Amino acid sequence: MVDDILRTPGAVRDAERWTAHNYHPLPVVISSAEGAWLTDVDGKRYLDCLAGYSALNFGHRHPQLIAAAHAQLDRLTLTSRAFIHDQFADFCRELAELCGKDLVLPMNTGAEAVETGIKVARKWGYQVKGVPAGQANIVVAEGNFHGRTTTIVSFSTDEDARADFGPYTPGFTVVPYGDLGALTAAIDENTVAVLLEPIQGEQGVVVPPEGYLPGVRQVCTDRDVLFIADEIQSGLGRTGKTFACDHEGVVPDMYLLGKALGGGIIPVSAVAANADVLGVLKPGQHGSTFGGNPLACAVAIEVVRLLATGEFQRRSAELGERLRTGLEGLVGKGLVGVRVRGLWAGLDIDPALMSGREACERLAARGVLAKDTHGSTIRLAPPLVITKEEIDLAVTTLAEVLAA
Ligand SMILES: Cc1ncc(COP(=O)(O)O)c(C=O)c1O
Repeated sequence: MVDDILRTPGAVRDAERWTAHNYHPLPVVISSAEGAWLTDVDGKRYLDCLAGYSALNFGHRHPQLIAAAHAQLDRLTLTSRAFIHDQFADFCRELAELCGKDLVLPMNTGAEAVETGIKVARKWGYQVKGVPAGQANIVVAEGNFHGRTTTIVSFSTDEDARADFGPYTPGFTVVPYGDLGALTAAIDENTVAVLLEPIQGEQGVVVPPEGYLPGVRQVCTDRDVLFIADEIQSGLGRTGKTFACDHEGVVPDMYLLGKALGGGIIPVSAVAANADVLGVLKPGQHGSTFGGNPLACAVAIEVVRLLATGEFQRRSAELGERLRTGLEGLVGKGLVGVRVRGLWAGLDIDPALMSGREACERLAARGVLAKDTHGSTIRLAPPLVITKEEIDLAVTTLAEVLAA
């Protein structure tokens, strides 16, 4: 095919012409997808090794999720929370049971779940813990990524995400990730919560030292502080368990969930916690027009049911070992570091060889889609429906790129 009959270049140009440049996408234009595979406007196929940053844990267009969405589209799509609909209670109950918590508060995007967690923690601090008005603080970690609202970027340590968006929301203390001593020292009598990703995804799949999460759990219990686990990217099967916290037997006070909860179809996020925490919210104090809408609930119920089978967690754990073996074989052959938990991997490319962006462009040219983060790091997060042959294909293609 000659270039001028390909549709991709024109489609890339049009997309750049008509949007704000708040992203720098790879120059591929997707038009359809199924399972772990994407097809672009020119018919070229790609293995998806990003899965919408874990929003597509069950793959593209999982039949059970698509069927639920179709059925719900034909009955009822939106009511607002002014009324109750017939999907709502089942969603909240089944998700609460999956989380082992009393209650669920549904929202839409991940950032909204984080904002909800912050608001609930502050209100809990004032009403239950007895923190003086306006004095609540929350301890967060360096390298965090919790979303893009003005409050959330206020405690980001990534200058791209934070700079020129002030004035910043006060009430957050940033400590090094993985350092229990620093975290403990940062807690004072006005601390209402510790907010952490159990594995830092955007930072490059950074796994904290063993014992860190149990230590955080213990210090939060001892000091009457809520432990909020942002499992928006790490949760729902990605790491080989339902939650990344499960690897160390840790139960936070609040789970923040999103991404995969919407089955790759519709934004669904939620906060799950016990009644002594979420119960601080009263009518009128928090909400969202679209949060917990019938279409979202119908899809998310099926997501929870898929997870309740344990099949996806098992696949992620087993195939993750294959991915680990393959990637560790490339250390010293273009990779300088690899971190793997389930089907989630952060790869550090030798910066002398190429940037993460260049590696992703070369992978895309060979039919594998992944995303760089922070210079020379690439993140792999394939859909959990990926097969072992497809994992081998991803690893082999990466080896070719690194050797080229
Ligand atoms: C850990 C974590 N929290 C929160 C968010 C924000 O989610 P959303 O983009 O849906 O607002 C993300 C998104 O990447 C995330 O990875």
